[in-house]
Parts: sequence; structure tokens; C-alpha cells
Amino acid sequence: MFVTDNVKYIGVDDKDIDLFESQYVVPEGVSYNSYVIMDEKITVMDTVDARATEEWVSNLKEVLGDKSPEYLVVSHLEPDHAANIQKVAEMYPGMKIVGNAKTFQMLPQFFDFDLTDRTVTVKEGDELSIGSHTLQFFMAPMVHWPEVMVTYEKSEKILFSADGFGKFGAINSDEEDDWACEARRYYFNIVGKYGAQVQALLKKASGLDIAIICPLHGPVLKEDLGYYINKYDVWSSYEPEDKGVLVAYASIHGNTAKAAKACAEMFENKGVEKLELFDLSRDDMAEAIEAAFRYDRMVIASATYDGGLFPVMEDFLAHLKSKNYQKRKVALIENGSWAPVAAKKMADMLESMKNIEICEKRVSIKSVMKEADKAAIEEIVDAML
Ligand code: FEO
Repeated sequence: MFVTDNVKYIGVDDKDIDLFESQYVVPEGVSYNSYVIMDEKITVMDTVDARATEEWVSNLKEVLGDKSPEYLVVSHLEPDHAANIQKVAEMYPGMKIVGNAKTFQMLPQFFDFDLTDRTVTVKEGDELSIGSHTLQFFMAPMVHWPEVMVTYEKSEKILFSADGFGKFGAINSDEEDDWACEARRYYFNIVGKYGAQVQALLKKASGLDIAIICPLHGPVLKEDLGYYINKYDVWSSYEPEDKGVLVAYASIHGNTAKAAKACAEMFENKGVEKLELFDLSRDDMAEAIEAAFRYDRMVIASATYDGGLFPVMEDFLAHLKSKNYQKRKVALIENGSWAPVAAKKMADMLESMKNIEICEKRVSIKSVMKEADKAAIEEIVDAML
């Protein structure tokens, strides 16, 4: 991938990983991005995951030739970017590591090498001249680890944005995709909890003249940057991106599923164009979470199980709470053959979240949806239009 004449991409695509962070399916893989700024003092921007060491070292050597880097900037210590810090520090004993106080507090937790005389500690707004390029550092705590910082290169107006503006999907993927789709799934599942911190970072970024965004995952962004920044602004403020409805169900034998599908069909028949239906037992949970944040309304349908919720619904709501789900309208459908409690359990979990309006009407099905249940579902659909 070409960045600029002086800024070289040395990242690696990982197309074989089964689960990113041991939890997210990535059908199109993921990229671990790393860059080298060629100047008087050659500077490497982050490393890559241990899964990609060999290819990354080869990319690095190809760019450096017989030269040695002066600095390694560490934006983020999470192992998908930092796994090779010790390796590169040992390869280039004269190289210094640039980070902030928190970086160097946490770095020894991951590695075992002598940092004496090897560190350059920077703080908010500090600048580091590396020749014709000047790096300026801005702290981005909890986007999404405490030590995260972003780097602005002043001469070419490049923002090295750490995990911000990243997405799932290898850079050299066969699938043409719409950036927002996998960027949104990445954002809400990985960074979603930290909307306030992302807002703080966007505020800092708004004071910079940015021509290129170099994230740690996914493509380098060079055009129409306002589009991406606007998406991040909407997502991090927890505002719905689209008017639409997510219908998500947790069904044991298919009867709750039938009710959820009937509900989705009614929304469609009544003209709701953006509608997504998820089987929480089988569909990708991360995608269901993404859809919950994307739309302004949600209907959740769950079987009662062991006097509580069917586990996938409990898991879904626990994820939403941990990602700070808020400012949405939700309607409830429960099912239970002898003592239905799912609606109350779902309401209890939703009430612990911020600014959730729960539709007063609730549908309670006993085992199998009947005509009267269909009428009750239609009432909640009307109330949600
Ligand atoms: Fe891509 Fe937070 O690491």
C-alpha cells in the first residue's frame, strides 16, 4: 500500500486468524498496520502481532536496507501492534522507543529487556523533529487502552491514529467492501465503551489540518476524510446512525423465532425500510451489537430459560451494557411455557443502561404464537413506528 514517498507501509495482512482477539470472526481477515518514515532519523510507527513477525521483519528490512531506525513510536501496547517491540529493539540496539509515561509503566509487563537509555518519553503536544518531518504527540487515553497516543506528522499532515479509524478486513482482500460496514462492527465492539474519550480525541483532531489518516488496522484514508470523521462523531456520541429497527431473538425450539420474524415482517409491511433480523444463537453476535447501535429502535424477543433469560439474550444485553448502549427505544417479546419472566429480566437489564425508553406494551407468548399474540405484536410494532 502506498502512503507517500517518504512514509512506507510495512504492515501485514492476517487472513488465517480464526478469531480476532479470540472473539471476533473476521471472514476477510485483519491487517496489522505499521509504517516507516524515511528521514534523517528513520522512525518506525508501531510493530505488528506475533502472528505476523516474519513478514513484518522482512518488510522492515526491505524498506531500511542497511540503514537503522532512530526511533520506534509506540502508539498502543496491545499485542496486535506491540508484540515485536523487544524483537526490533534487539535487532537495532541504537534505536530509541518513543512513548508516554503510561507506555513505559506498562511496557515491562509485556517484555523483559533493559530500557535504560532507550526511551524518549513524550507528553501532550510534544514535538520530535526527525529531519524534514516533525512528529507531534497527542494523548488518547482509553481509545481504547490507557497508554494510547496518536501522532501527527506536520509536514505531510498525516495522523497516525492508533486503533481509531481502523476496521476488520485484510487490506489486500478479494472482497470489495464498504468501509463503514466492518469499521462500524470494529468500532462498537472494540472501542464502543469509550465514546467520551473518542469525542475528546476528535476535538483535538479538529484543530489539526489532516490530509491522510494512517490507522493501525485497515486502509490508509486519503480522500473525503470528513466522511470518516463524521461517522466517528456519530458513533462516539451514541446517536443512531440510521432510522431503522433491529429485531433480535433468542429462541430454543423456534417458536420465539416465529414471533420475531412475524414482528419483522410487520415492520416491513408498514414501510420500515432499514430492518435487520438476528438469530442470536446463530448469527454473529458482534454484528448484532453493531446493528443495535446503528438503528434508533430495537425489538428483542427471548424465551424464558431456567427462570431467567435464554443465555444468548443475556449475553447480548450484557455486551450492550458494557459497550454503553443508550439513547434508544426498545420493545420486548417474551415466551415461556409455564412461568414467563423473560420480559421482566430484559427490562431489568435495559433499565440499568442510560436513556433507554422501553415500550410500555409487552408481548407475552405462552409456548406458541396465537392470533391474539400476533395482534399484540402488531400493537408494539405500531407503538415503535
Ligand atoms: Fe488493534 Fe487495541 O489493538
